[in-house]
Amino acid sequence: MLSRDQVAAYAADGYLALPGFLDPGVCAALIERAEQIAAEQAPAGPRSVFSTQAQARRSDAWFLESGDQVRCFFEEEAFAADGSLQAAPARAINKIGHALHDREPVFAAASYDPRLAEIAGQIGMREPLAVQSMAIFKQPGIGGEVGCHQDATFLFTEPLSVVGFWVALEDATRDNGCLWVAPGGQRGPLRRRFCRDGVGGVRFAELDPTPLPGPSQLQALPVRAGTLVLLHGLLPHWSGANRSPRRRLAYSLHCVEADADYPADNWLQRGASLPFRRLAAGPPLARSGALV
Ligand code: FE2
Repeated sequence: MLSRDQVAAYAADGYLALPGFLDPGVCAALIERAEQIAAEQAPAGPRSVFSTQAQARRSDAWFLESGDQVRCFFEEEAFAADGSLQAAPARAINKIGHALHDREPVFAAASYDPRLAEIAGQIGMREPLAVQSMAIFKQPGIGGEVGCHQDATFLFTEPLSVVGFWVALEDATRDNGCLWVAPGGQRGPLRRRFCRDGVGGVRFAELDPTPLPGPSQLQALPVRAGTLVLLHGLLPHWSGANRSPRRRLAYSLHCVEADADYPADNWLQRGASLPFRRLAAGPPLARSGALV
């Protein structure tokens, strides 16, 4: 899947964009299903907000127990001061997480794609487990900023091993909140960990005081729909608010090494009925297309 130069570029920069990875038809099917889930679940589900800026403060059971579920989270700006929604519920969703890849057939097929397993192997993963998936809406007008962070903060293992597979399902531009990355920044230390606090909440544990890169050190990564972006777990990245009239829906899948230690105080946990699966296992689909 990857050329020698691409593997070298990923090793040097901590990210790699692969245009045209997903066909437009596959993007359309993923978008359609994400919209359906949002339309079905958002009106009735809890008004749980997702904000990378204030997640430690805002975490609730809906979020903390979503590791093996498919659940919607709202934009902070979706709510008026009196708590009412300012947009139609399906237009106010920040993201759907965090087990789309194991519970939704179209997302399972896109996630347990043999090409992803091959790419993971080429960038040095030995036995990747698919641990987390999200459909990230970045809604027009209200889609919030995702503060500069390293994915290993949220999916910590010892040794560190997380890799993100981020796919633009719609064009991502400077205007609608494309990714911004700090090339080479994966060589820096992990700054902090997001972990369970043992009393029903979560907290950030500070690990290293080195500041994350500021805006002048970040590079915009505008990509067309269908582009796959590989993100090293230590790479600092950021995306701005979407003040444009165009949505920027993306799908992201995160993998960690099967033989790395996955701590019990990581925020994302699963029940025994749905253990993490190996990326190379292929989609858990029966002939009927249903999940097995
Ligand atoms: Fe991220």
